[in-house]
Amino acid sequence: MITMTEYQKKTGFPTVRMRRLRMTETIREMVRETVLQPSDFIYPMFVVPGKKVRKEISSMPNVFQLSVDELVRECENIYKAGVKSVILFGIPFHKDEYGSEAYDENGIVQQAIRELKKQIPELFVITDVCLCEYTSHGHCGILREVAPGQVEILNDETLDLLAKESLTHVQAGADMVAPSDMMDGRVAAIRALLDENGFASTPIMSYAAKYASGFYGPFRDAAESTPQFGDRKSHQMDPANTNEAIREVALDIDEGADIVMVKPALAYLDVIYRVKNEFRMPTAAYQVSGEYSMIKAAARNGWLDEQRIMMETLTAIKRAGADLVMTYFAVDAAKLLKI
Ligand code: PBG
Repeated sequence: MITMTEYQKKTGFPTVRMRRLRMTETIREMVRETVLQPSDFIYPMFVVPGKKVRKEISSMPNVFQLSVDELVRECENIYKAGVKSVILFGIPFHKDEYGSEAYDENGIVQQAIRELKKQIPELFVITDVCLCEYTSHGHCGILREVAPGQVEILNDETLDLLAKESLTHVQAGADMVAPSDMMDGRVAAIRALLDENGFASTPIMSYAAKYASGFYGPFRDAAESTPQFGDRKSHQMDPANTNEAIREVALDIDEGADIVMVKPALAYLDVIYRVKNEFRMPTAAYQVSGEYSMIKAAARNGWLDEQRIMMETLTAIKRAGADLVMTYFAVDAAKLLKI
Protein backbone atom coordinates (compact mmCIF):
# COMPACT_ATOMS: atom_id res chain seq x y z
CA MET A 1 0.00 0.00 0.00
CA ILE A 2 2.74 2.45 0.91
CA THR A 3 5.01 3.02 -2.06
CA MET A 4 8.62 3.58 -1.28
CA THR A 5 10.12 6.88 -2.38
CA GLU A 6 13.48 7.18 -4.03
CA TYR A 7 14.74 8.61 -0.74
CA GLN A 8 13.48 5.61 1.18
CA LYS A 9 14.92 3.13 -1.29
CA LYS A 10 18.27 4.85 -1.01
CA THR A 11 18.36 5.31 2.77
CA GLY A 12 16.03 2.67 4.12
CA PHE A 13 14.47 5.37 6.40
CA PRO A 14 10.67 5.73 6.58
CA THR A 15 8.97 8.76 5.02
CA VAL A 16 5.81 8.09 6.96
CA ARG A 17 6.64 9.01 10.52
CA MET A 18 4.02 8.71 13.24
CA ARG A 19 6.25 10.66 15.57
CA ARG A 20 5.87 13.99 13.71
CA LEU A 21 2.52 14.59 15.40
CA ARG A 22 3.87 13.70 18.83
CA MET A 23 6.70 16.18 19.08
CA THR A 24 5.09 18.92 21.20
CA GLU A 25 2.21 19.12 23.64
CA THR A 26 0.45 21.55 21.31
CA ILE A 27 0.40 19.23 18.32
CA ARG A 28 -0.51 16.30 20.55
CA GLU A 29 -3.45 18.28 21.85
CA MET A 30 -4.45 19.26 18.29
CA VAL A 31 -4.73 15.63 17.15
CA ARG A 32 -6.12 14.18 20.39
CA GLU A 33 -9.17 11.99 19.74
CA THR A 34 -10.63 11.69 23.22
CA VAL A 35 -10.94 14.73 25.44
CA LEU A 36 -12.31 14.67 28.97
CA GLN A 37 -14.36 17.52 30.36
CA PRO A 38 -15.82 18.06 33.84
CA SER A 39 -19.38 17.65 32.56
CA ASP A 40 -18.54 14.04 31.64
CA PHE A 41 -18.44 13.13 35.31
CA ILE A 42 -21.08 12.13 37.84
CA TYR A 43 -19.96 12.14 41.47
CA PRO A 44 -21.35 9.39 43.77
CA MET A 45 -22.14 10.52 47.32
CA PHE A 46 -23.30 8.80 50.51
CA VAL A 47 -25.81 10.53 52.73
CA VAL A 48 -26.41 9.54 56.36
CA PRO A 49 -28.73 10.72 59.14
CA GLY A 50 -27.53 13.30 61.67
CA LYS A 51 -25.84 16.70 61.65
CA LYS A 52 -22.22 17.61 60.99
CA VAL A 53 -21.40 14.01 60.13
CA ARG A 54 -18.35 13.64 57.92
CA LYS A 55 -17.06 10.11 58.23
CA GLU A 56 -14.33 8.87 55.91
CA ILE A 57 -14.81 5.37 54.50
CA SER A 58 -11.79 3.36 55.54
CA SER A 59 -11.50 1.44 52.28
CA MET A 60 -12.11 4.56 50.16
CA PRO A 61 -9.71 7.37 51.09
CA ASN A 62 -11.20 10.86 50.67
CA VAL A 63 -14.76 9.54 50.23
CA PHE A 64 -17.14 10.34 53.07
CA GLN A 65 -20.50 9.49 54.51
CA LEU A 66 -22.09 12.92 54.91
CA SER A 67 -25.11 14.25 56.76
CA VAL A 68 -27.43 16.47 54.72
CA ASP A 69 -25.87 19.75 55.96
CA GLU A 70 -22.37 18.58 55.08
CA LEU A 71 -23.58 17.18 51.77
CA VAL A 72 -24.96 20.55 50.72
CA ARG A 73 -21.69 22.28 51.63
CA GLU A 74 -19.67 19.71 49.74
CA CYS A 75 -21.94 20.00 46.70
CA GLU A 76 -21.36 23.75 46.56
CA ASN A 77 -17.63 23.05 46.16
CA ILE A 78 -18.22 20.24 43.71
CA TYR A 79 -20.33 22.47 41.51
CA LYS A 80 -17.69 25.20 41.63
CA ALA A 81 -15.11 22.62 40.53
CA GLY A 82 -17.20 22.08 37.38
CA VAL A 83 -18.96 18.80 38.23
CA LYS A 84 -22.59 19.39 37.31
CA SER A 85 -24.07 16.19 38.58
CA VAL A 86 -24.10 13.90 41.62
CA ILE A 87 -25.71 10.54 42.34
CA LEU A 88 -26.97 9.94 45.86
CA PHE A 89 -26.90 6.76 47.92
CA GLY A 90 -28.70 6.71 51.25
CA ILE A 91 -27.91 5.00 54.51
CA PRO A 92 -31.22 4.96 56.41
CA PHE A 93 -32.06 5.56 60.06
CA HIS A 94 -33.39 2.02 60.38
CA LYS A 95 -33.29 -0.99 58.13
CA ASP A 96 -36.10 -3.51 57.91
CA GLU A 97 -37.09 -6.55 55.91
CA TYR A 98 -38.91 -4.50 53.26
CA GLY A 99 -36.49 -1.56 53.06
CA SER A 100 -39.32 0.80 54.06
CA GLU A 101 -37.19 3.93 54.27
CA ALA A 102 -36.26 3.60 50.62
CA TYR A 103 -39.75 4.76 49.63
CA ASP A 104 -40.57 6.98 52.62
CA GLU A 105 -41.09 10.59 51.55
CA ASN A 106 -39.08 11.62 54.60
CA GLY A 107 -36.31 9.10 54.01
CA ILE A 108 -32.73 10.27 54.09
CA VAL A 109 -32.29 10.57 50.32
CA GLN A 110 -35.61 12.36 49.92
CA GLN A 111 -34.54 14.88 52.60
CA ALA A 112 -31.18 15.34 50.93
CA ILE A 113 -32.73 15.97 47.51
CA ARG A 114 -35.10 18.61 48.89
CA GLU A 115 -32.28 20.44 50.63
CA LEU A 116 -29.94 20.25 47.64
CA LYS A 117 -32.58 21.51 45.22
CA LYS A 118 -33.37 24.38 47.60
CA GLN A 119 -29.74 25.45 48.07
CA ILE A 120 -28.19 24.56 44.68
CA PRO A 121 -31.06 24.26 42.18
CA GLU A 122 -28.70 24.11 39.19
CA LEU A 123 -27.01 20.92 40.44
CA PHE A 124 -28.30 17.86 38.53
CA VAL A 125 -29.34 15.39 41.20
CA ILE A 126 -29.53 11.70 40.30
CA THR A 127 -30.59 9.03 42.76
CA ASP A 128 -29.64 5.39 42.96
CA VAL A 129 -32.75 3.25 43.18
CA CYS A 130 -32.30 -0.06 45.00
CA LEU A 131 -33.36 -1.66 48.25
CA CYS A 132 -30.05 -3.17 49.39
CA GLU A 133 -29.01 -0.18 51.51
CA TYR A 134 -32.40 -0.20 53.24
CA THR A 135 -33.08 -3.87 53.92
CA SER A 136 -31.95 -5.56 57.13
CA HIS A 137 -30.73 -8.55 55.08
CA GLY A 138 -28.83 -6.37 52.57
CA HIS A 139 -30.54 -7.84 49.53
CA CYS A 140 -31.87 -5.81 46.61
CA GLY A 141 -35.47 -6.96 46.92
CA ILE A 142 -38.08 -8.71 49.03
CA LEU A 143 -37.18 -12.23 50.14
CA ARG A 144 -39.26 -15.36 50.40
CA GLU A 145 -38.23 -18.70 51.79
CA VAL A 146 -38.88 -21.12 48.93
CA ALA A 147 -37.50 -24.20 50.70
CA PRO A 148 -36.10 -24.67 54.20
CA GLY A 149 -33.00 -22.50 54.41
CA GLN A 150 -33.36 -21.40 50.80
CA VAL A 151 -34.50 -17.88 50.07
CA GLU A 152 -35.23 -16.19 46.79
CA ILE A 153 -35.44 -12.53 45.87
CA LEU A 154 -38.94 -11.93 44.57
CA ASN A 155 -38.86 -10.10 41.27
CA ASP A 156 -42.35 -8.78 40.58
CA GLU A 157 -43.18 -7.94 44.20
CA THR A 158 -40.00 -5.86 44.35
CA LEU A 159 -40.91 -3.84 41.24
CA ASP A 160 -43.71 -1.94 43.01
CA LEU A 161 -41.35 -0.86 45.75
CA LEU A 162 -38.66 0.28 43.32
CA ALA A 163 -41.24 2.29 41.40
CA LYS A 164 -42.48 3.85 44.65
CA GLU A 165 -38.91 4.65 45.68
CA SER A 166 -38.32 6.36 42.32
CA LEU A 167 -41.52 8.36 42.58
CA THR A 168 -40.66 9.68 46.06
CA HIS A 169 -37.22 10.72 44.79
CA VAL A 170 -38.68 12.58 41.82
CA GLN A 171 -41.41 14.17 43.97
CA ALA A 172 -38.67 15.44 46.27
CA GLY A 173 -36.99 17.04 43.25
CA ALA A 174 -34.58 14.47 41.76
CA ASP A 175 -33.67 15.24 38.15
CA MET A 176 -33.12 11.62 37.15
CA VAL A 177 -33.42 8.17 38.73
CA ALA A 178 -30.95 5.34 38.26
CA PRO A 179 -32.22 1.85 39.12
CA SER A 180 -29.32 -0.40 40.13
CA ASP A 181 -31.23 -3.41 41.46
CA MET A 182 -31.21 -5.59 38.28
CA MET A 183 -34.75 -6.93 38.77
CA ASP A 184 -36.40 -7.79 35.44
CA GLY A 185 -38.88 -5.19 34.25
CA ARG A 186 -38.02 -2.41 36.66
CA VAL A 187 -37.45 0.28 34.05
CA ALA A 188 -40.97 -0.27 32.67
CA ALA A 189 -42.47 -0.28 36.17
CA ILE A 190 -40.69 2.95 37.13
CA ARG A 191 -41.50 4.64 33.81
CA ALA A 192 -45.19 3.80 34.17
CA LEU A 193 -45.50 5.15 37.71
CA LEU A 194 -43.58 8.34 36.90
CA ASP A 195 -45.73 8.95 33.84
CA GLU A 196 -48.97 8.37 35.75
CA ASN A 197 -47.90 10.95 38.28
CA GLY A 198 -47.02 13.68 35.81
CA PHE A 199 -43.28 13.08 35.57
CA ALA A 200 -43.10 12.01 31.95
CA SER A 201 -40.16 14.37 31.40
CA THR A 202 -37.94 12.86 34.06
CA PRO A 203 -35.30 10.58 32.52
CA ILE A 204 -34.19 7.15 33.69
CA MET A 205 -30.57 6.06 33.60
CA SER A 206 -30.59 2.31 34.01
CA TYR A 207 -27.76 0.24 35.35
CA ALA A 208 -28.40 -1.95 32.32
CA ALA A 209 -25.36 -4.24 32.22
CA LYS A 210 -24.39 -4.57 35.85
CA TYR A 211 -22.10 -7.45 36.65
CA ALA A 212 -21.81 -9.49 39.86
CA SER A 213 -18.40 -8.00 40.60
CA GLY A 214 -15.84 -8.23 43.36
CA PHE A 215 -15.03 -4.59 42.64
CA TYR A 216 -18.05 -3.46 44.71
CA GLY A 217 -16.37 -4.47 47.97
CA PRO A 218 -15.49 -1.01 49.31
CA PHE A 219 -18.89 0.40 48.31
CA ARG A 220 -20.58 -2.07 50.60
CA ASP A 221 -18.57 -0.57 53.50
CA ALA A 222 -19.63 2.89 52.38
CA ALA A 223 -23.31 2.07 51.92
CA GLU A 224 -23.41 -0.56 54.68
CA SER A 225 -25.17 -2.84 52.21
CA THR A 226 -23.26 -6.13 52.36
CA PRO A 227 -25.70 -9.03 51.99
CA GLN A 228 -26.04 -10.78 55.35
CA PHE A 229 -25.95 -14.13 53.56
CA GLY A 230 -25.59 -15.28 49.96
CA ASP A 231 -24.62 -13.06 47.07
CA ARG A 232 -26.12 -11.10 44.16
CA LYS A 233 -25.52 -13.66 41.44
CA SER A 234 -29.21 -14.41 40.97
CA HIS A 235 -29.76 -10.93 39.49
CA GLN A 236 -26.42 -9.35 38.59
CA MET A 237 -24.63 -10.57 35.46
CA ASP A 238 -21.97 -13.21 35.10
CA PRO A 239 -18.64 -11.47 34.34
CA ALA A 240 -18.04 -13.99 31.56
CA ASN A 241 -20.93 -12.77 29.37
CA THR A 242 -21.28 -10.02 26.77
CA ASN A 243 -24.05 -11.22 24.45
CA GLU A 244 -26.23 -11.23 27.53
CA ALA A 245 -25.23 -7.62 28.20
CA ILE A 246 -26.57 -6.68 24.78
CA ARG A 247 -29.91 -8.34 25.61
CA GLU A 248 -30.06 -6.58 29.00
CA VAL A 249 -29.42 -3.21 27.39
CA ALA A 250 -31.91 -3.84 24.56
CA LEU A 251 -34.61 -4.68 27.12
CA ASP A 252 -33.95 -1.58 29.19
CA ILE A 253 -34.08 0.65 26.10
CA ASP A 254 -37.32 -1.04 25.10
CA GLU A 255 -38.75 -0.40 28.56
CA GLY A 256 -37.88 3.29 28.32
CA ALA A 257 -34.35 3.85 29.61
CA ASP A 258 -32.91 7.16 28.40
CA ILE A 259 -29.29 6.46 29.33
CA VAL A 260 -27.82 2.97 29.68
CA MET A 261 -24.97 2.11 31.98
CA VAL A 262 -22.26 -0.51 32.09
CA LYS A 263 -20.77 -1.31 35.47
CA PRO A 264 -17.92 -1.78 36.48
CA ALA A 265 -15.87 0.10 33.87
CA LEU A 266 -12.22 -0.79 33.47
CA ALA A 267 -12.60 -4.57 33.44
CA TYR A 268 -15.57 -4.21 31.05
CA LEU A 269 -14.30 -1.83 28.37
CA ASP A 270 -15.25 -4.35 25.70
CA VAL A 271 -18.84 -4.27 26.96
CA ILE A 272 -18.92 -0.45 26.89
CA TYR A 273 -17.57 -0.55 23.34
CA ARG A 274 -20.15 -3.08 22.18
CA VAL A 275 -23.07 -1.36 23.87
CA LYS A 276 -22.15 2.02 22.36
CA ASN A 277 -21.71 0.57 18.89
CA GLU A 278 -24.81 -1.58 18.97
CA PHE A 279 -27.29 1.02 20.24
CA ARG A 280 -25.69 4.49 19.83
CA MET A 281 -27.51 5.49 23.00
CA PRO A 282 -26.20 7.92 25.59
CA THR A 283 -23.99 5.52 27.49
CA ALA A 284 -22.63 5.76 31.01
CA ALA A 285 -19.99 3.70 32.75
CA TYR A 286 -19.41 3.37 36.49
CA GLN A 287 -15.80 3.36 37.65
CA VAL A 288 -16.75 1.61 40.87
CA SER A 289 -15.43 1.67 44.40
CA GLY A 290 -12.90 -1.15 43.96
CA GLU A 291 -11.43 0.48 40.88
CA TYR A 292 -10.97 3.67 42.88
CA SER A 293 -9.57 1.96 45.96
CA MET A 294 -7.06 -0.06 43.93
CA ILE A 295 -5.59 3.08 42.43
CA LYS A 296 -5.58 4.87 45.80
CA ALA A 297 -3.86 1.98 47.52
CA ALA A 298 -1.16 1.64 44.88
CA ALA A 299 -0.57 5.40 44.90
CA ARG A 300 -0.28 5.44 48.69
CA ASN A 301 2.43 2.81 48.43
CA GLY A 302 4.25 4.92 45.89
CA TRP A 303 3.74 2.25 43.24
CA LEU A 304 1.66 4.28 40.80
CA ASP A 305 1.24 7.96 39.99
CA GLU A 306 -2.34 8.62 41.12
CA GLN A 307 -3.10 11.59 38.86
CA ARG A 308 -1.75 9.89 35.76
CA ILE A 309 -3.64 6.69 36.40
CA MET A 310 -6.81 8.61 37.22
CA MET A 311 -6.70 10.48 33.91
CA GLU A 312 -5.57 7.44 31.92
CA THR A 313 -8.38 5.23 33.20
CA LEU A 314 -11.03 7.93 32.73
CA THR A 315 -9.79 8.57 29.20
CA ALA A 316 -9.86 4.84 28.46
CA ILE A 317 -13.45 4.56 29.66
CA LYS A 318 -14.53 7.49 27.47
CA ARG A 319 -12.47 6.20 24.52
CA ALA A 320 -14.26 2.85 24.77
CA GLY A 321 -17.57 4.64 24.21
CA ALA A 322 -18.85 6.09 27.49
CA ASP A 323 -20.37 9.56 27.26
CA LEU A 324 -20.63 9.81 31.03
CA VAL A 325 -18.48 8.38 33.78
CA MET A 326 -19.64 7.90 37.33
CA THR A 327 -16.48 8.13 39.36
CA TYR A 328 -15.20 8.89 42.86
CA PHE A 329 -12.42 10.81 41.06
CA ALA A 330 -14.96 13.25 39.54
CA VAL A 331 -13.95 16.25 41.62
CA ASP A 332 -10.20 15.60 41.49
CA ALA A 333 -10.30 15.08 37.74
CA ALA A 334 -12.47 18.17 37.15
CA LYS A 335 -10.06 20.31 39.17
CA LEU A 336 -7.12 18.99 37.18
CA LEU A 337 -8.87 19.70 33.88
CA LYS A 338 -9.57 23.30 34.90
CA ILE A 339 -5.91 24.13 35.52
C1 PBG B 1 -26.64 -1.21 44.63
C2 PBG B 1 -25.36 -0.63 44.17
C3 PBG B 1 -24.07 -1.13 44.35
C4 PBG B 1 -23.19 -0.22 43.75
C5 PBG B 1 -23.97 0.80 43.22
N1 PBG B 1 -25.32 0.52 43.47
C6 PBG B 1 -23.60 -2.30 45.11
C7 PBG B 1 -23.98 -3.66 44.74
O1 PBG B 1 -24.61 -3.92 43.72
O2 PBG B 1 -23.67 -4.53 45.54
C8 PBG B 1 -21.70 -0.34 43.71
C9 PBG B 1 -20.95 0.91 43.39
C10 PBG B 1 -19.50 0.88 43.70
O3 PBG B 1 -18.91 -0.19 43.96
O4 PBG B 1 -18.90 1.95 43.68
N2 PBG B 1 -27.42 -0.26 45.28
